[in-house]
Amino acid sequence: MRAVVTGAAGFIGSHLCQRLLSLGWEVVGVDCFRDYYSPDIKRRNLKECLSHPSFFLVGEDLALSNFSFLQRGDYIFHLAAQPGVRKSWGREFSFYVQDNILATQRLLEASLQKGISLFLFASSSSVYGNSPDFPLREEARPLPFSPYGVTKLAAENLVRLYYENFSLPAVSLRFFTVFGPRQRPDMAFHRALKAILTGGEFTVYGDGNQVRDFTHVEDIVEGLIRALEGARVGEVYNLGSGREVTLSQALGAMERVTGRKIRLKFVEAAKGDVRKTLADITKARKDFGYEPRKTLEEGIEQEWNWIRSLYGD
Ligand code: NAD
Ligand code: UGA
Repeated sequence: MRAVVTGAAGFIGSHLCQRLLSLGWEVVGVDCFRDYYSPDIKRRNLKECLSHPSFFLVGEDLALSNFSFLQRGDYIFHLAAQPGVRKSWGREFSFYVQDNILATQRLLEASLQKGISLFLFASSSSVYGNSPDFPLREEARPLPFSPYGVTKLAAENLVRLYYENFSLPAVSLRFFTVFGPRQRPDMAFHRALKAILTGGEFTVYGDGNQVRDFTHVEDIVEGLIRALEGARVGEVYNLGSGREVTLSQALGAMERVTGRKIRLKFVEAAKGDVRKTLADITKARKDFGYEPRKTLEEGIEQEWNWIRSLYGD
């Protein structure tokens, strides 16, 4: 079986590539190594994959590619994107439009021409916005609260309409705030664990009582692999942990796991940040047996060990 993983050098994409290789897949990883965060970290993410004989790296930008790497029958995992909720305002928005909307539309067109087996799209909990009803169900009306969320919802809608108009076999999976080794440097756990390690200060946006359904990257990868079997084409699924944790509780767990104190500075809440996310995972559980297993503490410990190896202890 041959998989094409876009965003292969990123946080989630690199874990997915490794897992697919361990299952005996041939993997074509596509990534243009955007400098949103250090491309050195991305090269490091891919180290194990690059030494695997069944891994092929394509260093192309999806917004410009001629897609010669696509083959009939490929399974596409489309994870490439410009991520980050809080940076998506102002001039930066054009990067979100290019990498989240335009790149997705071009990849969908090329997939249609080629005749692929399945297109799995990495969508986001950010499409929900500040919903009044919890846990969040896929049927809820999506009302994104950030420009980033708007672009992820636009891409999700493109995926749906290529299915509805052209029967392109496609599924969208909404990931909820993912954590674990290789987490992006702009994300809360990465910054907080780095602050603990270096004695720096972690800036809390708001009062720390915002709630997130923090989901371990291994559970997300397992969800993607299970979706290959049982997900219904044309559908949207939540991939979360189904567990609600405040940022303050997560910071407390980091202090317990590391045995060190964290220094905090509180500033006002960031524009575009939602107050709460919590996934209803019934649909993914029912259709393809999705079952998140990792505890918050296990994931924090793994991410802590990785942060120490990245920044030196
Ligand atoms: P990441 O930034 O670590 O990985 C994305 C990768 O895509 C990067 O390596 C980047 O260089 C690449 N890329 C961007 N634009 C590209 C283009 N035009 N052509 C080729 N490569 C391109 O991000 P991540 O956290 O691993 O997120 C992966 C996916 O999951 C994204 O689609 C993101 O929106 C989605 N997601 C992430 C989270 C999370 O908590 N990390 C939550 C919900 C959804
Ligand atoms: C994360 C990812 O960054 C998005 O790419 C993704 O689409 C989104 O999850 C999702 O679930 O769809 P976010 O929930 O903002 O977005 O994840 P974190 O960056 O880990 O932030 C979690 C909370 O910590 C937020 O309330 C944020 O305001 C807060 N935070 C973050 C801080 O207080 N300080 C920081 O330095 C960083």
